Amino acid sequence: MLKKTVGNWVDGDRFFNREDEIAALREYVQDGTHTLLTAQRRMGKTSLVRELLRGLNGSPGIKTCFVDLEDARDPADAIVEISVASRSLRSIRRRALESPRALLARFRNIQVGGQYEEMRFHLRADIHVGNWKRKGDRLLRDLTRGSDLVVLAIDELPLLINRILKGRSDRQQAEDVAAADEFLSWFRRNAQEHRGRLCFIVSGSVGIAPILRRVGLSAAMNVFSNFELKPWSRSTASECLAALAASYHVHLPREVRDVVCDRLRSCIPHHVQQFFDALHRRLTIARRSEATLEDADRAYREDMLGARGRIDMDHFEDRLKLVLGPNRFTVALELLARAARGGLLRPQSIKDYRRILDAAHDPAADSLPFVLDVLEQDGYFDKRREGYCFTSGLLEDWQRARQGLPIHPLSGT
Ligand SMILES: Nc1ncnc2c1ncn2[C@@H]1O[C@H](COP(=O)(O)OP(=O)(O)OP(=O)(O)O)[C@@H](O)[C@H]1O
Ligand SMILES: [Mg+2]
Repeated sequence: MLKKTVGNWVDGDRFFNREDEIAALREYVQDGTHTLLTAQRRMGKTSLVRELLRGLNGSPGIKTCFVDLEDARDPADAIVEISVASRSLRSIRRRALESPRALLARFRNIQVGGQYEEMRFHLRADIHVGNWKRKGDRLLRDLTRGSDLVVLAIDELPLLINRILKGRSDRQQAEDVAAADEFLSWFRRNAQEHRGRLCFIVSGSVGIAPILRRVGLSAAMNVFSNFELKPWSRSTASECLAALAASYHVHLPREVRDVVCDRLRSCIPHHVQQFFDALHRRLTIARRSEATLEDADRAYREDMLGARGRIDMDHFEDRLKLVLGPNRFTVALELLARAARGGLLRPQSIKDYRRILDAAHDPAADSLPFVLDVLEQDGYFDKRREGYCFTSGLLEDWQRARQGLPIHPLSGT
């Protein structure tokens, strides 16, 4: 029974496939290799790490901890988050030492639900810009004190770095770069110092490479081995659709599953789940249990590319906006639109656009290479000899639908 999920990370009976990736990451962990997990948005990075940790939890000699830095604004916040998430792994004595005395007294009376918020609040008062490095060192020293290997998964590190760099603004301030460098150096030093006892797995919904490249900090992550999570193959996507269909007592014939894969082109797990959800809803409303090619076509055009799909697209793009800031985001949208119109973003089209930006004295002109780098790293574009083209059929059709362009029919529909 595979339960459908559209949106949040999945594990256990909602998690499908990825056995090879889990096995490979397990090996990385056993070798003590620090890993940077990269992939396009919604590929299932967070789910993969969560499922990996779930499996590792029972292993003798291994402790795991998952830290989400989505809301962290600065290094002190990051230390607080690691501290909160790893609380159960550390000794009571140490916990008492690192937090204010009042905190302990409070802990005894805190209701379980509010415990982490309360703890975060008090730790935040104790850890600040002047002492985060010392506190962080002590925290990681304490975490690695025992004989167990500690696997520390850090999700959304690129978002924190982007925030430190104030990624939304066009002008990069030297002190922001220095602050990002300071945090990444601290991170790297600890990764090296505790190698063999502490194993980091870093991931995020945006790629860290272009962000670091732009400010000349690429070397900061070179103690991490890159692990790229790829889309599902057509056969895996088709098996996932069949498994979901069986769980919900509907039938998706092979040709319907083929159409789903043809439309998506790149079988990003979230898009596969979205497609199944759209089909399932249609069948439920029509009180039917077998999907036709017409159902697949209408689910794609009317749901995935319709009003509902537009919300998904906005959500998909919100990280792009976050990393690029409003001006560069506009540049990205224009490049995506040009690629969708022409089926390919040719070098000439980029030059023409640059000329337009230059003529308007738009400072965003200089950011074209960075924007293209982000679009390529985040999986929007594949770079070919003739130009950039969309990797995902859905992403391309979203852009076409946005411009009112017709959606190509598929053979057989
Ligand atoms: N192994 C999987 N089995 C089934 N569904 C999956 C799997 N991995 C991802 N999904 C689908 O993708 C969605 C997003 O998963 P997840 O949050 O792990 O992706 P992500 O790559 O971390 O996304 P983001 O880029 O936003 O951080 C899930 O809600 C689910 O629909
Ligand atoms: Mg994620």
